Amino acid sequence: MGDMKILAVESSCDETAAAVVENGRRVLSNVISSQIALHTLYGGVVPELASRRHIENINPVIETALAEAGCRLSDIDAVAVTKGPGLVGALLVGVAEAKAVAFAAKKPLIGINHMEGHVCANFLEHPDLEPPFLCLIVSGGHTHLAVLKDYGVFEVLGRTRDDAAGEAFDKVARAVGLGYPGGPKIEKAAREGDPEAVPVPRGKVDEHPFDFSFSGMKSAVLNYLNHEEMMGRTVSQADVAASFQQAVIDVLLTKTLNAAKALQADKLVLAGGVTANGALRQAFAEACARRSMKLYVPSPVYCTDNAAMIGAAAYYRLIRGERSGFDLNAEPGLGLGEEP
Ligand code: KG4
Ligand code: ZN
Repeated sequence: MGDMKILAVESSCDETAAAVVENGRRVLSNVISSQIALHTLYGGVVPELASRRHIENINPVIETALAEAGCRLSDIDAVAVTKGPGLVGALLVGVAEAKAVAFAAKKPLIGINHMEGHVCANFLEHPDLEPPFLCLIVSGGHTHLAVLKDYGVFEVLGRTRDDAAGEAFDKVARAVGLGYPGGPKIEKAAREGDPEAVPVPRGKVDEHPFDFSFSGMKSAVLNYLNHEEMMGRTVSQADVAASFQQAVIDVLLTKTLNAAKALQADKLVLAGGVTANGALRQAFAEACARRSMKLYVPSPVYCTDNAAMIGAAAYYRLIRGERSGFDLNAEPGLGLGEEP
């Protein structure tokens, strides 16, 4: 088989994205139209507004992705799109668009799990990386410890019982007045803060060492904020940010290292928007170096939502002969490891 160019589309949340990826590893273009300015007005993502903005953006984003890759539609071998999980209205825009493009251009179509895409983002910059490997996936909607046993085959070791890590970042950021998008704002504020100033419990789940719980950690911060307000004291945003960020990093790192030990893993892969966090990346890099474990993390632009990662995941399914029909639908609640 010759080179395979995949046009990939991603619209699961608040970024409209398209990319052209060759053979699952080489990014020919990666276009992301962010809706941050729109949703900042409301302090968070407004699903209905996100869908409408996707509709406005999707054609120009795809045209730009093709142009930057130096391709025409006829040069493309397949069309890939995020089918879930995500916001249903947002997903539907990408799915309908991908179907229309694939039908008009007579190209194969494939729907991709967004979380699998996040993990496959690592293939874009690490040519030596191949499954099996242990991975930690931390995004706005999900937190998973899993093993990618083979391309497209996940075994989930643990997951969050309540909030996702990114969601907790977003809620704490809002409560302390840092606003949307929470993760990057917390990271920036935390640089000036004391990570030990505010006591934040390290959430754990009894009997399930690889499961996560972030809602108690978030509540501890909210209680602290209420208490300080009642006492008439002003809080340091920087201290709250630094303390909460450190607590989340501690929990993610401890559980991941325990899993690595149990599995005797010699490599670890990070994925998802929260892994764009510089303090988290540094903590994992140091811990892995001490254990002679090889760490793989995407560049920040491939940690947060993008379409190149969807193109990477799609390649390995397409070469196994997988295709989606034109009855492909959005699957907002799609889990990890739930596909054949
Ligand atoms: O993977 P992603 O872009 O979208 C989802 O699939 O959810 O992740 C978005 C999440 C948000 O909760 C955002 O606050 C968080 O990732 N995030 C960060 C950082 N950048 C994004 N969290 C901590 N530090 C960051 N620098
Ligand atoms: Zn994502």
